Amino acid sequence: NWTPASFVQETIEQLKLQIGDAHVIMALSGGVDSSVAATLISRAIGDRLHGIFVDNGVLRKDEFEQVLNTYKNIGLNVTGIDAKQLFYDELKGKTDPEAKRKTIGRLFIEVFQQEAAKIPEAQFLGQGTIYPDVIESVSVHGPSVTIKSHHNVGGLPEKMHLQLVEPLRFLFKDEVRKVGLELGIPAAMIQRHPFPGPGLAIRILGDITEEKVALLQQADDIYIKALKEYSLYDTIWQAGAILLPVKSVGVMGDERTYEYTVALRAVTSVDGMTADWAHLPYEFLAHVSNEIINNVRGINRVVYDISSKPPATIEWE
Ligand code: XMP
Repeated sequence: NWTPASFVQETIEQLKLQIGDAHVIMALSGGVDSSVAATLISRAIGDRLHGIFVDNGVLRKDEFEQVLNTYKNIGLNVTGIDAKQLFYDELKGKTDPEAKRKTIGRLFIEVFQQEAAKIPEAQFLGQGTIYPDVIESVSVHGPSVTIKSHHNVGGLPEKMHLQLVEPLRFLFKDEVRKVGLELGIPAAMIQRHPFPGPGLAIRILGDITEEKVALLQQADDIYIKALKEYSLYDTIWQAGAILLPVKSVGVMGDERTYEYTVALRAVTSVDGMTADWAHLPYEFLAHVSNEIINNVRGINRVVYDISSKPPATIEWE
């Protein structure tokens, strides 16, 4: 019978056998899966695990600093790389969602390979692949139709001639979370909503500028903090704010404004494959709308997305 404690113990033993005296490099995203996988590997081989966490410029507000801090507190050997400018430069003028994804995926691999080259002793690549990824990568990358290409699955290993270490390959998300808590990873990190690899780049419809990222980060931060304050965060599969390429007229004091619109998205789901829009209380929505409009200069309208998946997807791009 499966228990988190027995899984942890057995997996650490297996990892020691598999890795021996070698070194492992691994890209960390701040997400549940890569964080739990890295912590397991680090329990087996200590600082011979070399984590790399890249700031791609489209993370959430303060996320880079906060996640790095958490990793340090857990005791992981992690290097943070500020690559924001590179990503902004290359994303400039790109409006097509798949072009944005491909750009971010390509740059990420470039940055990661550069860092990996500094650790020539690494023979293994750690990955936080979980069982649904194994199944979904078949349908996402399969021969039929690519709806949205995901760059957090695959891509790296073929180019790098490294052997894979994937300690979570047979676990479902709820099991990964239990293992994470068993390992003493802070609950705030374990309960985090999924966040896409291309980050806020696919939540800014149309082209991306540093200014738009800053606007969206502020609105998103207000929204997510409020979900936590109202104890709604844990009842939701995933939530985030989307910056629409639409300006509309508003009034502020005696002045006419002409500013951006933000859409709030929150869904309930078991696996992200289908999802229902979350029936958030009106009182909560009113609070968030006021906070955003009163505090974020450049946004004068907030709307709530009441579409389910299918036919709408969770992300807008
Ligand atoms: P959709 O929008 O397809 O999203 O309903 C389903 C889940 O996948 C996430 N998502 C992505 N994750 N790279 C990722 O790593 C991507 O390009 C990507 N696109 C969507 C989305 O956040 C949701 O959890």
